[in-house]
Amino acid sequence: MNFQRYLSAKRTVDERAIDRGVEARLAEELRGRDAPDRDALCVLEVGSGIGSTVTRLLDRSWFPDRVDYTALDIRSENVAAARERLPSWAAARGFAVRRAGESADGSADGSARPRARADDRFVLSRGQRRAEVRFRTADAFDFLAETDREFDLVVAHAFVDLVDPADALAAFRRALAPDGLAYCPITFDGETGFDPVSDPDLEARLLDTFHRHLDASGDSRAGRHLLATASATGEVLAAAGSDWVVYPRDGGYPADEAYFLDCIVEMVAGAVRKEGKIDAERVAAWADRRREQITDAKLVYCAHQLDLLVR
Ligand SMILES: C[S@@+](CC[C@H](N)C(=O)[O-])C[C@H]1O[C@@H](n2cnc3c(N)ncnc32)[C@H](O)[C@@H]1O
Repeated sequence: MNFQRYLSAKRTVDERAIDRGVEARLAEELRGRDAPDRDALCVLEVGSGIGSTVTRLLDRSWFPDRVDYTALDIRSENVAAARERLPSWAAARGFAVRRAGESADGSADGSARPRARADDRFVLSRGQRRAEVRFRTADAFDFLAETDREFDLVVAHAFVDLVDPADALAAFRRALAPDGLAYCPITFDGETGFDPVSDPDLEARLLDTFHRHLDASGDSRAGRHLLATASATGEVLAAAGSDWVVYPRDGGYPADEAYFLDCIVEMVAGAVRKEGKIDAERVAAWADRRREQITDAKLVYCAHQLDLLVR
């Protein structure tokens, strides 16, 4: 499985799933951010992968024009992919793209070293819109521990289920300015469904084992746990379901969603194999059957998730 291709294939699935009501509330909260007396919106994204969320937000008409965006991920290969993808994405949308510190002749800060950079900022500008974007390789919790009330918005897309939701929320709040917001879309919430099902007992055991495996390092019911902890300790501005729903159309799957499904089947089978509770041959046969259903455009897949906007 190529993780960067998986994240890229996931984008169309996410785009359908993201709850527009929660997004509208975020837009409402950010209204007025472009007033001349306000600083640029300061955003931290944790677990940013290949940079799908920063581009999605910059595409939204309601997102403030002046943005200072730091996107971090623990895996350097994801950060490298994000850095590589942003300039062509931005250029295709009519943004002028500049690496910060780079002078007109391509040298950095007037130094003799061509393309050396004072830091790794991209400056994107188009009309009134001016976004400074930095990509960092870092552990989110290490980074958050060193920041103090700096950010107006923390974004954690498909991230909180990988960690402890209460710890994550506490760390986000410490890094937020007074009145800052945490936006956590696509937070997994404990339900996975494939159809058709030929052996209901095996299917139930397999999915339960998959969820227990997620619990070993994160939280398979992170969505509801984050919602509970956020409302007990602060304010939930909006929350709604953002289920992934993938199904065949016209004899196939849209965009690269067949690959997305292959990856999901591999993730479930791989997790169940690691747990060692179900006979490995039965798991392999299950995965083979699911792959055939993808090839034949017969597989339906749903996963339950929540989008949350909290203070
Ligand atoms: C499910 S992926 C989602 C990526 C991206 N937000 C998206 O939706 O396309 C989770 C990401 O979190 C990153 N990650 C996991 N644990 C992390 C940590 N402790 N600090 C920073 N990033 C982390 C992974 O490397 C991965 O890229």
